[in-house]
Amino acid sequence: MHFSAPLLILLIALTIALIAVFVIRPQTTATAAGKIAAFIGVKHCVAMCNGTIALEIATRALDLKGEVIVPSYTFIATAHALQWQEITPIFADIDPTTHNLDPQSVRRMITPRTTGIIGVHLWGRAAPVRELQAIADEHGLHLMFDASHGFGCTLDGKLLGSFGQCEVFSFHATKFFNTFEGGAVVTNDDALAEKMRLMRNFGFSGYDNVIYPGTNGKLTEIAAAMGLTNLESLDEFVAVNRKNYQCYRRGVAALRGLNILEFNQSERNNYQYIVLEVSPGCSVSRDRIIEVLHAENILARKYFWPGCHNMEPYRSYYPHAGLVLPNTGLVAERVVVLPTGTAMREEDIEMITSVLRSLTTSSK
Ligand SMILES: Cc1ncc(COP(=O)(O)O)c(C=O)c1O
Repeated sequence: MHFSAPLLILLIALTIALIAVFVIRPQTTATAAGKIAAFIGVKHCVAMCNGTIALEIATRALDLKGEVIVPSYTFIATAHALQWQEITPIFADIDPTTHNLDPQSVRRMITPRTTGIIGVHLWGRAAPVRELQAIADEHGLHLMFDASHGFGCTLDGKLLGSFGQCEVFSFHATKFFNTFEGGAVVTNDDALAEKMRLMRNFGFSGYDNVIYPGTNGKLTEIAAAMGLTNLESLDEFVAVNRKNYQCYRRGVAALRGLNILEFNQSERNNYQYIVLEVSPGCSVSRDRIIEVLHAENILARKYFWPGCHNMEPYRSYYPHAGLVLPNTGLVAERVVVLPTGTAMREEDIEMITSVLRSLTTSSK
C-alpha cells in the first residue's frame, strides 16, 4: 500500500494525538502540575483549564462570601470571578508608582461584610504582600493573590506563588508561561488543595463516587503537553523579553513625557509587559499615540483601561466609585502596553520607538 507524503504526515500526527489522549493521558497534566509546583517551591499545583476558573475555584474553596477587596486596575476576570459567585468585589485604589494595591486604601474598604482580599501582582511586580498580610491578620480576613502576570518573578528572592493562602496563575497564550489556555492554583495548604481538586473534577473522589458539588475545571492533556515544552524554555523567554525591554528603554529614554515602567533588578522578573506611561506633560496624548501606532499596524493596547469599576455591571452598581479611586483613574489614562515576545526583532522595536520619537517631537 502506498501513502502520499501529506497523508503519511496526517497519519503520524493522528497516531501521536491518539497516544497523547489515550496512553499518556493520566500523566501529562499531573507531570506538568508536579513540575510547576517544584519550580515554584510549593506543595501543590492544582492545574485548571484557565485562570478565571482557577480564581473561581480558589475563592470558593476559601469560602469567600459577602465582600472581597480587589484592585479595580486589573483584568476584569479578577472581579468577575467573584461576581459570578454572587460575592461583591469592592474596589480599592492603587499606588500610582507601583500600579499595585495601596494598603491604606484596602484598609478604608473593610466593612463587617468583608471576608477576604485578593492582591494582584500587576505586570509581574509583586503586590505589597507583607502589608496586605498584616491587614488580613489584623482583621481575620482571607488573603490570596492573582499571580496571572507573575510566573517566574520573585519577591525578596522568593518566587511568586507561595504567598497568602494560595495564588492563581493564568497560562493563557498571552502570558509569559503558556499552555494555549490554562491556569493553576498553587498552595502549601493540603486541605485547600484537596478541596480544589474535587471542585475541579465534578466532585469525584475515585470512580463513581461524587462527594462534593464540583465543576469541570481540568487542564486538557494537550495543553499540559504544551506547558511541559514551554517549561523547558523559560530562561530563553526571559532572555528575549529582557532584551526587548532594554531595547525599548534605550529607545524611549530621551523622549520627554514618556517612560517605560521599571523592574526591580534585584528580583527575578519575566519582563513580559512593556508598560509605557504617558505623563500629563507629554506633548502628545496617550490616545493619539495608540491611534498612530494602530495606523502603523502596531498592536499597542490600553491596559486596564477604563478600570473594572467603569465596566458593567460594576459601573451601574457603583456609579461614583471613581471618587475613591483617583490613582486608578490616573494610571488607566496613562498606560500603553507595547508588543514584545519571541516574535519581535530588534529592528521592529526600533521602528516602534522611532514612531514614538516622531510623535513626541512633531506635536508641539
Ligand atoms: C490579572 C489577570 N487575572 C486573570 C486573568 C484571567 O486568566 P484567563 O484568561 O486564563 O482566564 C488574566 C488574563 O487573562 C489576568 O491578566
